[in-house]
Amino acid sequence: MKVFLIGYMGSGKSKVAEALGKIMDLPVVHTDELVEEAEGKSISEIFKTSGQEHFRDLEKKALHSLAENNNVVVSTGGGLPCYFDNMEYMNAVGVTVYLEANPGLLFHRLSNNKTGRPLIENLNDVELMEQISGQLAVRSPFYKKAQIIINAASVDVKSLSQLIINH
Ligand code: S3P
Repeated sequence: MKVFLIGYMGSGKSKVAEALGKIMDLPVVHTDELVEEAEGKSISEIFKTSGQEHFRDLEKKALHSLAENNNVVVSTGGGLPCYFDNMEYMNAVGVTVYLEANPGLLFHRLSNNKTGRPLIENLNDVELMEQISGQLAVRSPFYKKAQIIINAASVDVKSLSQLIINH
């Protein structure tokens, strides 16, 4: 079983992935970490030295590098589902779960957690709110292709694991 957690930065993908991994007894991987390991650089450095387009290529490669991992929970980078055919690919090879969060909650979680996230780290509060709302509008149609959509504000990991198993 492959489970993909998707959603905007700050929606809680990593935390939910760790909890799901424990409850379902599955290993957990983070695409951001795979990219960082492959390049030997942090996400911020990759954006700075090679640009976002190169980062998106690396992300796709990281996703496909999991083809042989049959049982795994994957926490994906917030933009990953919105590039190439990544969403279709994840839906074809596993179960996708969208952690849906409104802009207010995301702002609350991100305003003090911008470091290491190049798309928001230099924004002030007003710009951050605009970035979240604007990107969510563009990204939601991709996220909503997920097979399971849950409210990021109140995740019950046990019932989520049941939803995934019964899917
Ligand atoms: C990004 C989200 C980040 C990381 C990169 C770009 C995005 O992952 O992949 O900074 O485009 O939303 P998290 O969602 O884990 O913060």
